[in-house]
Amino acid sequence: MSDLPTIYEHFDLTDHNTMGISAQARYFVSIEYVDQLQALLKKPQFLELPKLMLGGGSNVLFVDDFEGLVIHLENSEYRVDKETEEEIVITVGAGKNWHELVLDCVEKGWGGIENLSLIPGSMGAAPIQNIGAYGVELEEVFMHLRAVHIETGEIRVFDKEQCLFGYRNSIFKNELKGQNIITDVTLKLRKHHEVNTSYRALSDKLAEKGIKDPNIKQVSDAVIEIRQSKLPDPADIGNTGSFFKNPVISKDNFNKLQGEFPEIPHYPAGNKIKIPAAWLIDQCGWKGKRVGDAGVHKMQALVIVNYGSATGEDIMSLAKKIQNSVKKKFGVELIPEVNIIE
Ligand code: EPU
Repeated sequence: MSDLPTIYEHFDLTDHNTMGISAQARYFVSIEYVDQLQALLKKPQFLELPKLMLGGGSNVLFVDDFEGLVIHLENSEYRVDKETEEEIVITVGAGKNWHELVLDCVEKGWGGIENLSLIPGSMGAAPIQNIGAYGVELEEVFMHLRAVHIETGEIRVFDKEQCLFGYRNSIFKNELKGQNIITDVTLKLRKHHEVNTSYRALSDKLAEKGIKDPNIKQVSDAVIEIRQSKLPDPADIGNTGSFFKNPVISKDNFNKLQGEFPEIPHYPAGNKIKIPAAWLIDQCGWKGKRVGDAGVHKMQALVIVNYGSATGEDIMSLAKKIQNSVKKKFGVELIPEVNIIE
């Protein structure tokens, strides 16, 4: 059994959330091994306290101090479980930085996650919201994950079906919210991968670079270029990527909206229609607007930024104003994509 690491009290979380909100955790601990985690969860002192798993902190907004135990996983090893001519199966520690993993895989020629380059966050956080970008979602390469059940300390395995993946969604955001700590994730990647360049912004970028038959490295590079040109780097300016989900509405509702706003961009989503929230917010005049130290990014209206000393409440108050104006103009409800900790 590994020794229990230091448990910090009244710990400042500013460096542990990419929005750069200065909230405090009542207790904070960084964990490297699963047995440490199990021992920690058994400690009587923590039994009744709320617990929060923090990966890269790139998808959380602290509206208040967290009066519980924040657990930061640092296990970042990965191992190859199986390798054939065609496929490779790897198991990755939850603490592994997602983008570093993508770069490692691209370098080794393992395809499937190159479109997900530069998404902030860690491996353990990725399945919770089924991260996605440029036409690809995590679920396409996902096999299973292991998690520690907080109440019993048991290790449980969840296969793909059990995760109930959806658009930026999984069982871990719903029925099982806050009940498990994901410790590692198993992915299946391909060695002769057929790249997906169906997303318009990506195919345009590749065309602009004169690339006709891209390999995974070229796709990854193009995605990195697009993201760097549109999305702010949390190292320069606090943000959590897209703040809201793109709303998915019924065809009837969409037809009514399109009658009024013929130029509205839209994409099919099963038997419904997805509308870019960025467009709705942009049309309401929010792009580049700033209220105190909270603002809407000037290049991407879906990204709320912290110019320095915004509090979680400042960010929420701006988010609510945006929701209200979109509701008023379009009758559409915007739902935060970010995990709000109140
Ligand atoms: N648009 C505007 N104004 C803007 C930005 C975009 O009108 O300021 C319109 C344009 O019509 C554009 C459309 O919105 O064609 C879609 O924009 P974009 O391609 O930038 O993608 P998005 O729908 O805003 C989603 C994800 C991003 C992901 C990109 C690329 C969600 C909530 N967001 O954004 O994910 O990188 O697609 O696949 O699904 C994240 O989850 O944090 C994230 C950044």
